[in-house]
Amino acid sequence: MESITTVRSERRRALCERAGAPILLGNNGTRARNLPINSLPFRSDSSFLYFTGCTEPGAFALLVDGTCTLFLTPPEPGDELWHGEVPSIHARAEALGIAHARPLGEVMEAAEAHSGRLLSLAVPDPTITARLAQLSGRRLAYPDTPGPRPLVDAVIALRRTRDEHELVEMRHAASLAADGHRTLMRATRVGGTERGLAALFEAMIAARGAVPSYHPIVTVRGEVLHNPDYPNLLRSGDLLLVDAGAESAGGYASDITRTWPVNGVFDSRQRDLYSLVLAANEACIRMCRPGQRYRDIHFEAARILAEGLRALGLLRGAVEDLVESGAVGLFFPHGVGHLLGLDVHDLENFGDRPSYAAGRSRPEQFGARYLRMDLDLEPNMVVTIEPGLYLVPAILHDRELRTRFADAVSFGEAERWLGMGGIRIEDDVRVRPEHDAGGEPEVFSGDVPKTVEALEGLIGSGPSAEERLSA
Ligand code: GLY
Ligand code: MN
Repeated sequence: MESITTVRSERRRALCERAGAPILLGNNGTRARNLPINSLPFRSDSSFLYFTGCTEPGAFALLVDGTCTLFLTPPEPGDELWHGEVPSIHARAEALGIAHARPLGEVMEAAEAHSGRLLSLAVPDPTITARLAQLSGRRLAYPDTPGPRPLVDAVIALRRTRDEHELVEMRHAASLAADGHRTLMRATRVGGTERGLAALFEAMIAARGAVPSYHPIVTVRGEVLHNPDYPNLLRSGDLLLVDAGAESAGGYASDITRTWPVNGVFDSRQRDLYSLVLAANEACIRMCRPGQRYRDIHFEAARILAEGLRALGLLRGAVEDLVESGAVGLFFPHGVGHLLGLDVHDLENFGDRPSYAAGRSRPEQFGARYLRMDLDLEPNMVVTIEPGLYLVPAILHDRELRTRFADAVSFGEAERWLGMGGIRIEDDVRVRPEHDAGGEPEVFSGDVPKTVEALEGLIGSGPSAEERLSA
């Protein structure tokens, strides 16, 4: 494998060639309180990281015909005493394989030399985005006005598939989270807490020198799709949904969801719904091959779920109609997945442009309209596959939906299932080229248990969260 600094240099050259103009990239910033060490958690802008590897808040990179100059904050007197030794800006750039470095204060003068031609990208920090807009003389806003089309398209083209370095990072991100999931399964107890398990997941990741890739979802109210809180005790009969990932040292995300019964045994209705979601998850993973249209994977999940829900008496009518009308979306109200990479919803700061092929737009059906992606899969794209079923009071009690889907949904029967919450099973899947293992998808999260038997054998089999955290 080529060194990562060589790979980044090739990425920068390709970006310049595709964009056809000088480029000024800015890193994200921190918004500190009065005391600088009280900064909010900092994360580099993903494109800045991808092209430079530089993790310094507020840094800029000027790319001209593939030559990169980094603009960095020079060491200050007193740094060594207060913050530890800070190498020179040249040494810091050189460590990234970048030959040119200038003090941050010179970025304006450097930008002016390319006035009228500079292309730039918005970043999450609004102060830095405003500065980039000023330096490039263009309107930028995060995320609505991400940058000029030629630059945005060049970044999308380069970042949408993974090279060898990225695949190594992503496998590692998945293995970190996989450890966390298995530990949480073993630590689950009736009488335990969501908060304790969430803390254990974060501690597991921290002990391996990493951070979560997003705020972990650990909830017995899985019907709230991105439930951010941890207020609940774990009761016998509850299903626990854990949607939690880790970030590799290089900034790559994993995004894994498992759902299991708190008391260690699925009751018959939980098992019925769980088996359906698992069947959809496995069928959809098998479909992740080069050339496969991603939207059809979503609709295959919808078909499998609709068929199963009909057998359970929750839906009525022909499966094709239940998918076509969106009726199945009342129980599967989100898309089957998304691109995964440096960001969890990778490239979503560029809107639907990276994830919807030209001429395609979001489906109209209830649920399917949240489908985040409709590309033909290419070798070394990494996507999530995350079908789910949810009993959502806000959906099932909605008057307009009850009227619209009166024939297709057995609302009376659904009432008896309310309280079960939500089930989602999510894996991270790499599309393999046909010449590699016959094009079988590689599942980075494949060693996180998900069959009923494997889960039931593991739940509660190790120390509880409280025991582990206080030991
Ligand atoms: N793990 C959160 C999501 O995919 O939306
Ligand atoms: Mn996801």
